[in-house]
Amino acid sequence: MTMIFNGEKLAKQKALKLKSKASVYRAKGIQAKIAAIFFKEDAASALYTSLKKQTAEQLGIGYQAKAFSFATPIKEIQDYLDILNQDSTITGIIIQKPWTKKWLEAVPNGDFAKWWFGLVSHIATKKTHGINKDVDGLAPATLEAIKRGTWMQEQMVLPATARAVLSILKDYRANVDQDFSYLTENVLIIGQSDLLGKPLYWHIKNMMQTGSTVPGEFGEACRISVADAHTHNVVSGKKCEVKLVGKKGFDEIIEQKGSLSDFRVIVSATGQKNLIDGSIIAAHSLLIDVGEPQGDIDLPSCLNKADFITPVPNGVGPMTVISLMANALDLLKSVL
Ligand SMILES: NC(=O)c1ccc[n+]([C@@H]2O[C@H](COP(=O)([O-])OP(=O)(O)OC[C@H]3O[C@@H](n4cnc5c(N)ncnc54)[C@H](OP(=O)(O)O)[C@@H]3O)[C@@H](O)[C@H]2O)c1
Repeated sequence: MTMIFNGEKLAKQKALKLKSKASVYRAKGIQAKIAAIFFKEDAASALYTSLKKQTAEQLGIGYQAKAFSFATPIKEIQDYLDILNQDSTITGIIIQKPWTKKWLEAVPNGDFAKWWFGLVSHIATKKTHGINKDVDGLAPATLEAIKRGTWMQEQMVLPATARAVLSILKDYRANVDQDFSYLTENVLIIGQSDLLGKPLYWHIKNMMQTGSTVPGEFGEACRISVADAHTHNVVSGKKCEVKLVGKKGFDEIIEQKGSLSDFRVIVSATGQKNLIDGSIIAAHSLLIDVGEPQGDIDLPSCLNKADFITPVPNGVGPMTVISLMANALDLLKSVL
């Protein structure tokens, strides 16, 4: 029997806690406020921005949004980011990443990666007015800290989508299988973007290597020692690993193995509709679908084979929105 995750339900439960956390901060005179930038040519970005604004306001978190155009000179956007960095009322900055394809339609022969780097590297991670403003873990410095495994000590946050995936796995452990830990399973992450694939990979890899000594939300779900992990691996008879692949790596696995059956946990973030179907997954797998607006996973064909699937919509999406709000409140810790 496959359990279908309900993202709206878990997000609502989390919202209650976050609302009260935001009010505790307000009582201490600290108001969380996110400033968002989005690009008007990308309709999906405008929609996600309005959904995030709505959720923020329900929780008592400020949210202001400004639209730019792909045609806006990058210097103008960077100058605006600098103003936000210096504004003491802004506690977090997010740039809603547009769809690369849309950007390239507007800027033929442009270098999307260079343009995006030029923007996200302008989000202040050094404390300005006592706070790191990289609320969605977009800045290159944040990814470096995640890679080093020091992001928590440096008071940084994971990208909201990566946090959403970890929260979903934690919820599976809490409510379905208390023996489950992604540290003792083979994990495959498909899609190697800076927003999800890379940070999630580095975080899980570091946790697997250290045996999770981090307390709280990110460690609680998998508080095991390296020795436990080793014992588990010996018992299960398989080498436990996390693997990150793009298109080439994915095709190689399919060519060499014929399926993804070596992996119990599969996180897919490619935007390729039905990339994964029931014929290539292992029995009892946990499938996390990050694809939008259409899922990467062909849900009907995986039913009754997988143990757990996040649907699209109502899976990772609502959890990403609420994770951004959790990030916004986490960043306030440093100003207390
Ligand atoms: N639910 C949410 O909250 C949320 C948040 C962010 C993004 N998303 C969604 O996640 C998806 C990816 O977004 P992104 O920003 O990460 O995109 P991206 O930067 O364009 O990355 C896409 C990744 O998918 C890989 N890929 C493409 N085609 C593939 C194939 N046929 N087989 C295997 N891998 C393939 C690419 O591989 P190469 O590296 O080899 O090119 C690349 O690593 C989109 O659908 C987006 O809408 C959802």
